[in-house]
Amino acid sequence: MLQVGVLTSHEGSLLQSLINDSRLEPVVFQIGVVICNNCDANALRRAQSSGIPAICINAKKFGTPERADRAIFTTLEKFRIDLVFLAGYLRPVGPATLGGFQGRILNSHPSLLPKHGGKGMFGSYVFQSILETNDEASGVTIHHVDNKYDTGPTLAQEDFHFNRDQGVDALICATKECEKALVTRTIRNIAENGVIGPNV
Ligand code: GRF
Repeated sequence: MLQVGVLTSHEGSLLQSLINDSRLEPVVFQIGVVICNNCDANALRRAQSSGIPAICINAKKFGTPERADRAIFTTLEKFRIDLVFLAGYLRPVGPATLGGFQGRILNSHPSLLPKHGGKGMFGSYVFQSILETNDEASGVTIHHVDNKYDTGPTLAQEDFHFNRDQGVDALICATKECEKALVTRTIRNIAENGVIGPNV
């Protein structure tokens, strides 16, 4: 059974979709631990109410970003995590975690990277940026994580057409639907066909 560790920061809506999916038959992966850098996040409550170990790790609690990074790494090791998934995690992943889980850390980003990605491109900023262009298609990218924001090799991407006249809420809604399906498919594929390597 593939053990997935989820790193998240706030609401945890993508986390919730992963939790729900992990319990559908056939069960091929399990969320082994949820780590959140924000101790008041709804994501922690979602994990706890599903009986999943939920741990707050941040630099404030651990003293420095380096110590928090090492705590994340040792926590992932302790829960025997095979694959780390970033679901709305708004911090850079530190070198201890990146080194220890090389090729096994994925992020989901709500645009067709490299468009609308990079530092500062999170939450509503991504959607504003998309609507400021003439793009007629948007989508979701699942990519390997490196020490920058949204730059690692793409593992999976899915697009859809949208009508900008329908506004930002419709775009967000379509993106979330697309993302749930792509994340599910990607993790199930990894669970069924073996853990991925660094170069896809
Ligand atoms: C996801 O939709 C993902 O695209 C982005 O952050 C969102 C997660 O937010 N990286 P939430 O905390 O699950 O609502």
